[in-house]
Amino acid sequence: MIAETARRFRTARLAFGHGTLNANDEAAWLVMHALGRPFEELSQHLSQPLPAAARRRAAQLIERRIAERIPAAYLTHEAWLGEHRFYVDKRVIVPRSYIAELLRTQLSPWLPRRSPGTILDLCTGSGCLAIVAAHTWPGAAVDAVDLSPAALAVARRNQREHGLEKRLHLRQSDLFSALAGKTYDLILSNPPYVGAAAMRRLPAEYRHEPEMALAAGCDGLDLVRRILAAAPFYLNPRGWLVMEVGHNRARVERAFPRLPFIWAQTSGGDDCVLLLQRESFPSAAGPAMPPNRSTARLRLA
Ligand SMILES: C[S@@+](CC[C@H](N)C(=O)[O-])C[C@H]1O[C@@H](n2cnc3c(N)ncnc32)[C@H](O)[C@@H]1O
Repeated sequence: MIAETARRFRTARLAFGHGTLNANDEAAWLVMHALGRPFEELSQHLSQPLPAAARRRAAQLIERRIAERIPAAYLTHEAWLGEHRFYVDKRVIVPRSYIAELLRTQLSPWLPRRSPGTILDLCTGSGCLAIVAAHTWPGAAVDAVDLSPAALAVARRNQREHGLEKRLHLRQSDLFSALAGKTYDLILSNPPYVGAAAMRRLPAEYRHEPEMALAAGCDGLDLVRRILAAAPFYLNPRGWLVMEVGHNRARVERAFPRLPFIWAQTSGGDDCVLLLQRESFPSAAGPAMPPNRSTARLRLA
C-alpha cells in the first residue's frame, strides 16, 4: 500500500515539505497513522497484512491528500520537531523551523553554556519553538506571543500536552506591543517572511496554511524590519536575537548593511537563520524606549 500510494503521490505531483520531504515517507506516515502505530515501527509492520479497518482509514486519508492537497500533518493532526510532537490544525502553520535544529545544540557556540533565564518566542504559532526552548533549558521562563487568537488556542493545547502551564506564558500581541518593560536573554522568532511574488507561486499545499503566518508584504521583510528595529530594546545585555528569514539573506543584508549578522548553518543552508547580539545593534546604545517605526528604519539601514 505504501509503494502504490507513493506512486500515486508522484503521479499527482504533490508538494512535500510539511513534515516529510518525499512521496515514500509521506505515504508511510499516513499508513502508519491509519494503523495507529508510530512511524519508527514501520519496519516491524512491513511483513504483516494491514487490517481491513486500517486499510479503509488509510485509503480515506490518501484520497484527501491527493484530491484536496491537504498537508499530511493537517490530516493526522500531528507534527514533529526532532523528538517533540505537536498537535496541529489549519489555525497554525505546520512546524518546520530551522531554529529547532539549532536548539538541539543549545545554540552553541553563540550562547554561553549557562542557561538563558528568560526567553521570548515571537510569532509562536503552535508554540513549537517556545516549547522546544522550554525543554532545552528547563530552568528558563518562556514567554510566547502571536497576533492570532486562533493560533494561540493551538499553542495552549500544546502547552498543556507538554506540561508547561507554569513555565510558558502565552499572550496575544502584535510583535512586542504587549511586552512593554520586559527584556529577555534570548529572543527566538520565525515570523512570516514570504514576499508577494513567492506567495502567488506557492503550491496548493501551502494555501491550506494561514496566510497571516506566511505573507509579509512586497519583499517578505515587513515583519523582519519591525523586529530588527525593536529587538534591542527587549534584549538584556549580551542577549541574543535568533530569527528565521527564509532564504532571504541577500535581501536582509542589502536592507540592513550596518548590522553585522551571523548566519547559522542549518539543513536549509546558511541563508535562513540570523543571529545578532544586543551589543551589535547600533540603536542598543540609544534611548531605553523603543523608537517609532520610521526613526528605527533610518537608524538601522
Ligand atoms: C511562520 S509562522 C511561525 C509559527 C511558529 N513559530 C513555527 O515556527 O512554526 C508565523 C506566525 O506569526 C504570526 N504573526 C503574524 N503577524 C504577527 C504579528 N504582527 N505579531 C505577532 N505574530 C504575528 C502568525 O499568526 C503565525 O502564527
